[in-house]
Amino acid sequence: MRIAGIFILSLSIMLGLGAGAPALAEGNSSNGRKIFKECRNCHSARADKYGTFGPNLYRVIGREAGTAAEHNYSPALKNAGFVWTVERLDRWLAGPEKYLPGAQMEFFLDSAEARADVIAYLIAAGKR
Ligand code: HEC
Repeated sequence: MRIAGIFILSLSIMLGLGAGAPALAEGNSSNGRKIFKECRNCHSARADKYGTFGPNLYRVIGREAGTAAEHNYSPALKNAGFVWTVERLDRWLAGPEKYLPGAQMEFFLDSAEARADVIAYLIAAGKR
């Protein structure tokens, strides 16, 4: 066990995790807009649109998780107790149920580039 721990520790130092996580790639919002078509089956990123299957995502970055109006969240998201940041969103989109066990979003993006792009789109959409 101890050897495995030391191995993982030195591996994380080698990967630069000891010196803070590597910066996330800057996304391309026009690619992100295309990827967001998939999200749009359930979500809207417009200020005034509710009533879809998922919560409204307008200005979701900087908003407390599980607090969009008119959405009935899972207890996992309702009680998450954090504010969405770019980093959290990236991890969420890579696997919602892994990130927050009990979350009920049946969708994920495997590609880090696609995640960065869709996050860039959400930031751009929030400026309107
Ligand atoms: C199949 C429908 C569906 C798709 C597709 C989907 N989502 Fe979701 N999403 C949900 C549901 C439902 C929730 C609420 C989950 C819960 O309550 O546990 C959610 C929650 C979220 C949240 C948390 C919002 C908050 O208010 O805390 C974010 C952020 C999010 N989704 C982003 C995305 C993005 C970006 C995409 C596209 C890459 C996407 N989702 C695709 C259904 C979906």
